[in-house]
Amino acid sequence: MAYKVGIITLSDKGSRGEREDKSGPAICEMLEAWNKKEGREIYEVGSEVLLPDDQILLEGVLMGMADEEGMNLILTTGGTGFSPRDITPEATYAVATKNAPGIAEYMRAKSFEITPKAMLSRGASVIRNSTLIINLPGSPKAVRENLGFILPALEHGLGVLLGREGECGSDGHHGEHHV
Ligand code: MTE
Repeated sequence: MAYKVGIITLSDKGSRGEREDKSGPAICEMLEAWNKKEGREIYEVGSEVLLPDDQILLEGVLMGMADEEGMNLILTTGGTGFSPRDITPEATYAVATKNAPGIAEYMRAKSFEITPKAMLSRGASVIRNSTLIINLPGSPKAVRENLGFILPALEHGLGVLLGREGECGSDGHHGEHHV
């Protein structure tokens, strides 16, 4: 069964219709391309929202997508930087039941190889019960790069989170885990 993915774009301008949202569609394209590459329907986008940078609003949408809509993975884009309006990581930590810092650490580490400005993303990666929430930076370029770094490990992480994959012993190749 495909993992259900929720996509949230944080953009004051986008939510007012003053800027075209290219980052949400970039996430969809990346997931579709990954399904195609793997030859399986691994990810299915089930919910997409464009929001202003408002912490209370974002916390509500994160909880709704996780608890009511049953999204297995929520990817946010935008609002991770240093601007006073950037509150995505704060809302993400506020709804978390566990931290999962390795994903954000790896995205930043790999992004340093592309731009030193990678250190300006405060993006978080956390678990809320059985939903994985990952903050991506705002630009379509950064979305593509960061998602590209983590996609190779994401399916296994979701499988373990949801109890579909039990063993971490193999290097992640499918068909090697015990049922
Ligand atoms: N990471 C990658 N891989 N590529 C990028 O172009 N841009 C950086 C950083 N991370 C970038 C990146 C920049 S310029 C900023 S300001 C931060 O992400 C935060 O972006 P955000 O405020 O749009 O979330």
